[in-house]
Amino acid sequence: MDEVFNWQIRRKMPYQYPGTRPKRQFAMVFDTNKCIACQTCSLACKTTWTSGAGQEYMMWNNVETKPYGGFPLGWETRLLELLGAGSWGADSYAGKTIFEAAPPGERVLGYRPHEGDWAYPNLAEDEIGGGSVTRGMHLTVPHKVYQFYLPRICGHCTYPACLAACPRQAIYKREEDGIVLIDQERCRGYGECIRACPYKKTMYNVVSRTSEKCIGCYPKVEQGLVTQCAANCIGKIRVMGFVSPPEQARADNPVDFLVHVRNIALPLYPQYGLETNVYYIPPIHAPLKYLTQMFGPGVEKAIEAYRNAPQDPLLVGLMTLTGATETIMHRFTVEGGNARAFDDKGNQIADVPVTEPIVTRPAYDEKLQVFRHNIT
Ligand code: SF4
Ligand code: SF4
Ligand code: SF4
Ligand code: F3S
Repeated sequence: MDEVFNWQIRRKMPYQYPGTRPKRQFAMVFDTNKCIACQTCSLACKTTWTSGAGQEYMMWNNVETKPYGGFPLGWETRLLELLGAGSWGADSYAGKTIFEAAPPGERVLGYRPHEGDWAYPNLAEDEIGGGSVTRGMHLTVPHKVYQFYLPRICGHCTYPACLAACPRQAIYKREEDGIVLIDQERCRGYGECIRACPYKKTMYNVVSRTSEKCIGCYPKVEQGLVTQCAANCIGKIRVMGFVSPPEQARADNPVDFLVHVRNIALPLYPQYGLETNVYYIPPIHAPLKYLTQMFGPGVEKAIEAYRNAPQDPLLVGLMTLTGATETIMHRFTVEGGNARAFDDKGNQIADVPVTEPIVTRPAYDEKLQVFRHNIT
C-alpha cells in the first residue's frame, strides 16, 4: 500500500500502487443544465463500441434521471450506505475513502450489482424528487419538486479502484493520456473490478468471459479528436480535453478553466477518493444538500459562478465554443466578440461569434432581382 495525494479531497490517502500521473489526463466536463436526456451520446457509444455478442446490456455511456434513476440500479445509494456518513472539514475531506474503508483482506470497499440491476438503463426516468405529484402541486411555492439528467462515463480515474482491485493486474492506465483500459488478453473475468468501481463502469461480458469498459475512444483521442459521446452530443453540453493538477492549471485550457479557474465544474462523488476525471457543472435548481453529497463542497460557489455567466465574457465564450468542433480544444481565447479554439499544435479549429449577429434582409434582392415575402 502506498500513500498518494488526491487534490479533490485535498489530502493524502492510501492507494494500492505508487501515485504517478500520466503526461496528460483525459477529462470531460458536462453541463447538467443543458442536458436534455436525448440519449444520443449513449447510442453513439453503443453503435460504435458495444454492438457485439455479450455486450447487449452494456451502456458505457448512460444518462440517468436524478434523483431516482440509476444504471445499474441504485449504484450510488448502495455504496453510500456501505461507506456511512462522511463530512468535509474546513481544509479537506474528513471521512473515509473507499480505499480507507475496505474490509480486512480486501483492497476496496465495494459491492457487485445483481444481474437484474443492469436490466433497466433508466428505470425511474422522469420521476421527480419531493414526493408524488398531486393536482395543484405546481401552485405550491416554494416546493421540492426537481429532477435533472446525469450523463455518465468512466472517470478514467487518477487512482482507479478497478485497477487497484484486479488480482491479475489486467487493468492499466495509459501514460500518454491517462485513459484506463482492461487488457483483454490478461483478464480472466474475476470481477473484482466490477465490485470495486464505485461508479459501476466496468461490465462483464458473458460471451468473452472478460470485463469491458469505456475505452475513452482512444483511437479518436490519438488523432486529436473528441470521443463519440462528446462529438454527437445534441445539447452541446460536453467539453472533452485534458485536465491538469491544480498547481499546473492553465487558464486558457478549456477544462482547466472550468475546473480550476472558475471552479464551476466539480468531480462526481469526490469523497470516494478516486480523483475521477469527469466533472459536472451542477444543476442550478436542485437541493444543495443533495448536490453537495454528489459533487462535494464547491456546489454553492459553482452555481453562483454559473448564474454570473452573463457578466463573464470568458465563460460565455467557452460555452459558445462547446460542441463547435470535433477536434480536441487545447487552448481558447475570447477577443473582439469572437471565441476561438486551437488544437495542441496551435492551429485554429473554431471561430464563433459570442453573440449571433441579427441580419435583416431587404424585401427586394437587387442581385437576384427577386422580392422576398414573409409567408408565415
Ligand atoms: Fe475504473 Fe471505475 Fe474509475 Fe473507470 S470509473 S477508471 S472503471 S474505477
Ligand atoms: Fe463510449 Fe467513447 Fe464515450 Fe467511452 S468515451 S463512453 S467509449 S463514446
Ligand atoms: Fe445529454 Fe448530450 Fe447525451 Fe443528449 S447527447 S443525453 S444532451 S449528454
Ligand atoms: Fe481483473 Fe476485472 Fe478481469 S478483476 S481479471 S480485470 S474481470
